[in-house]
Amino acid sequence: MIRTRLTELLGIRYPVVQAAMGYVSGPRLAAATSNAGGLGQIASATMSLAELEGAIAETAGRTGAPFGVNLRADAPDAAQRVKLIIAGRVPVVSFAQAPRPELISALKEAGVITIASAGVRRHAEKAAAWGIDAVIATGSEGGGHVGAVPTSLLIPQVAAAVDIPVIAAGGFLDGRGLVAALAWGAAGVAMGTRFLLTSDSPVPDAVKQVYLAAGLDGTVVTTRVDGVPHRVLRTSMVDQLNREGRAGGLVRAARNAAAFRGRSGLSWREAIGQGRALHWGTGHRGTGRREGGLSWRQVLMAANTPVLLRAAMVDGRTDLGLMSSGQVAGLIEDLPSCAELIGAIMREAEVGLERIATLRSE
Ligand SMILES: Cc1cc2nc3c(=O)[nH]c(=O)nc-3n(C[C@H](O)[C@H](O)[C@H](O)COP(=O)(O)O)c2cc1C
Repeated sequence: MIRTRLTELLGIRYPVVQAAMGYVSGPRLAAATSNAGGLGQIASATMSLAELEGAIAETAGRTGAPFGVNLRADAPDAAQRVKLIIAGRVPVVSFAQAPRPELISALKEAGVITIASAGVRRHAEKAAAWGIDAVIATGSEGGGHVGAVPTSLLIPQVAAAVDIPVIAAGGFLDGRGLVAALAWGAAGVAMGTRFLLTSDSPVPDAVKQVYLAAGLDGTVVTTRVDGVPHRVLRTSMVDQLNREGRAGGLVRAARNAAAFRGRSGLSWREAIGQGRALHWGTGHRGTGRREGGLSWRQVLMAANTPVLLRAAMVDGRTDLGLMSSGQVAGLIEDLPSCAELIGAIMREAEVGLERIATLRSE
């Protein structure tokens, strides 16, 4: 058994966390991960309040093990979401963006364990000072919105800077990676793309096949989707977005914003608030942009993410949809169940640790 500060903190068997993925990590994937001994997480950024309430109840019905909800602290209804989470007795909350101190306090008072996300050391330090219990540090190999610091440099830096358990993310898929993360000072790993590519993930098979076919050069970081760096599978749709001039991109963004508003039943004001908050982030706000502020162009483009992500992950439109992906897609070739995946990771990690121990000599 490998026990770490993370397994102790969360009361889970294995130091493996399923990262939140919009339209991907709902009750089915979260519960399968938690039942396999890891920590499953519901991605709530792409859910309405009512959907989140249903997802919490469904996940609790599928697993007796701890699970988490991933929350955006700057969502317009974040306080209501926190109330739902507390009422639903959810054991763990992770923040997609910068947390807010008052939300951390409210959750902690109710006995909920809180986890922050960071793509740069400064954000991890800030959240630690606010009393957060753990931090997921995600390197630039990761899928979705990414910062610029690679995992191999970020994790040791963050682990040295904070005194809370650090969960390493960005590019993990197996037991060797877990051993590396532990060596860098982390207490576990979080994986997105690897969990998307399991038989328990609800993503349509045609979409999974596109990920499986990708090579290590199959992803690209683009700002053309929603105005901030976003790692996605390189498809002809993404190439077209990259070729399109600014004006073409904005016309498309306006169309997507209208579709998002129509589907979600939100007012324009609310839709813009939601789209803006969907800039779940890992450090880009700390890399020279106005702190906490997005340009109107980015706000408009933000609606691209939910609309395009949904087209792929729910509707199976590999041609039109956006497939957020870590570089690690290039190394993944199978679709195990979560139980098979976590079992293999832990066996490989045990072997790896033993092998490293044999390297020592008197
Ligand atoms: C398809 C997909 C959807 C994602 N959606 C979200 C999201 O809704 N909120 C969020 O905070 N991060 C999201 N992410 C980022 C993941 O939480 C995580 O940081 C990333 O997958 C880690 O890198 P890896 O894919 O190399 O494991 C998404 C990632 C992927 C691959």
